Amino acid sequence: MKNKSVFGIGFDIGGTNIACGLLDGEYRIVEKLSRRFEPLGEDGIAASMLELSRALCEKCGASLENAAYIGVCIPGSVDAKNGVVIDAYNLGLHDSAFRAAVERTFDKPAALLNDADAACLAEARLGALRGTENSMLVTIGTGIGVGIVLGGRLFHGGRGLGVEAGHVQMDIHGAGCTCGRSGCIEALCSATALARLAESALGEAIALPVLVERAKNGDPACKRVWDEYAFNLGNALASYINILDPQLIALGGGVSGAGSFLIDSVRPHVDKNSFFRQPTPVTIAELGNDAGLAGACIYALESL
Ligand code: BGC
Repeated sequence: MKNKSVFGIGFDIGGTNIACGLLDGEYRIVEKLSRRFEPLGEDGIAASMLELSRALCEKCGASLENAAYIGVCIPGSVDAKNGVVIDAYNLGLHDSAFRAAVERTFDKPAALLNDADAACLAEARLGALRGTENSMLVTIGTGIGVGIVLGGRLFHGGRGLGVEAGHVQMDIHGAGCTCGRSGCIEALCSATALARLAESALGEAIALPVLVERAKNGDPACKRVWDEYAFNLGNALASYINILDPQLIALGGGVSGAGSFLIDSVRPHVDKNSFFRQPTPVTIAELGNDAGLAGACIYALESL
């Protein structure tokens, strides 16, 4: 499907919320809506998506019938070619022919991608990774997601099962990870890990923007937490650099809201610990929360 004058509906399905956006032919988000949902199996999730997209179309006076395609991204390992969710733990989907369920429900062609891959594709076409051939996006949210562009194309893994670089182990004896192992990069460097670190050091939970602001202003306890986090993340990025020698790494997800403060904090650890003497540029992603939606739609248009 190469006709770009069509519009599509993109979905970013998280553990508790579905975000839905109507995208025009230039992948601009015309309108979006998000809602809590219960992940009740593949048909249940597809039904929630349909309901949400109907509300979205009503909101912006569009007709769902005129949407040409559906783009979906989810947190978990995905066989994008065959439209199968292999394991998405917080959606309760395992070996699920989810793309077929979406196509059945909407009666439209659909594309399915991992959330970080979708965001990476969008950053590569429209955002911070534009113009690069070999680069990566690391999303730092509830989990750690990694998308890789090789030769200007999204890398789906050697067997097409995806890239799960958040589950590379950093500390064999470290905190438990959602995947069942210990000390994965996700367990040490996700927003969840940062919140946990802050809570145990400060004795109470703290919102991440508050932590960042206090660390910036030199509050000693918050700065200690932030520095430890930056040390962990910088080391994780150095390991990614050693595997791939990317031209550029973009950081997305909630923690990337700290902007240049995050870059300046991780920079020395990245430079000191990567194998290569020539520093690898690390920057903040540009498309924010909309990257997944947009990327799922771009993938639909490029692959259907
Ligand atoms: C999952 C990835 C996902 C990432 C971000 C990780 O826990 O394994 O598939 O991309 O979280 O949502």
